[in-house]
Amino acid sequence: MTEIKRVAVIGAGTMGSGIAEACAKGGAETIVVELNADVLARSEANITGSLDKAVARGKATEADREGTLSRMRFSTSIDDLADRDLVIEAIIESEPAKVSLFQSLDRITPPSCILATNTSSIPIINLATATSRGDKVVGIHFFNPAQVQPLVEVVRALTTSDSTVSAAADFCTATLGKKVIHCGDRAGFIVNRLLVPYLLSAIRMLDSGLATARDIDDGMKGGCAHPMGPLELSDLVGLDTLKAVADVLHEEWNEPHYAAPPLLKRLVAARRLGRKTKAGFYDY
Ligand code: CAA
Repeated sequence: MTEIKRVAVIGAGTMGSGIAEACAKGGAETIVVELNADVLARSEANITGSLDKAVARGKATEADREGTLSRMRFSTSIDDLADRDLVIEAIIESEPAKVSLFQSLDRITPPSCILATNTSSIPIINLATATSRGDKVVGIHFFNPAQVQPLVEVVRALTTSDSTVSAAADFCTATLGKKVIHCGDRAGFIVNRLLVPYLLSAIRMLDSGLATARDIDDGMKGGCAHPMGPLELSDLVGLDTLKAVADVLHEEWNEPHYAAPPLLKRLVAARRLGRKTKAGFYDY
């Protein structure tokens, strides 16, 4: 089985940065690739800040922090991946963009390299068939913040081999220290199939005027011990991402509870995307 020591994470947004931090923290030599130099610089600063926070919280030592940073490299070029064992794609949730990236990765990485996607909603098989190595394409789906949340979903496409699933799952448990759950290649996997309708219901409830955003969130925190309420969590996920995931779930399952509510569509149109734009259901 492939032993995974050299990793690349493509896309240095919130998810890519958290995934890269988790990989390097676990001991993998990690290249973060992001074409936008500003986003890349912000990612490096965010990862450093997150490691500082981990040290301050007693979750990591100074030596862990230094070791993690020493294993990370930041690049604006995708051409530097000829020695990678695993690439994890975490770019925007757009199928054409991901297909084109997987075609490039298939050319650039060695044939033994596993190509993983962090997509929440795009069929893994559509990325697998964009390459000449469908057996080595797998979903590794992280949760935000990826350096903190303990779970990953390992998603098997129709073409994914048993050895790829095992190598991906071993890497997630042994190197990243995550709990792995396995599932098939259906939009939403396990967690988002359950979570997204809940978040959309909270948005419909707010739009109906039944209660304030604060009371809806306090209801689920105080009543069900959730760490965040559904509207705060939507702001954390990003309202554009939530809408994109809802659209794909609705397309796949054709069930009304996956349809993006009008308020979500209007907030996205207004570019009130949640924490990342400093305004969503709340101001930040
Ligand atoms: N490294 C290691 N540990 C860290 C850390 C870091 N950089 N930053 C924080 N932590 C730890 C803290 O030490 C703390 O641990 P303890 O509870 O053991 O003390 C824990 O993480 C929480 O950190 P904070 O106190 O800083 O923050 P918080 O208590 O306000 O929690 C939160 C923040 C982790 C985001 C929490 O509110 C939470 O878990 N919210 C729910 C998030 C969630 O549901 N995510 C899933 C989103 S859905 C998704 O991602 C899928 C999709 O496809 C859309």
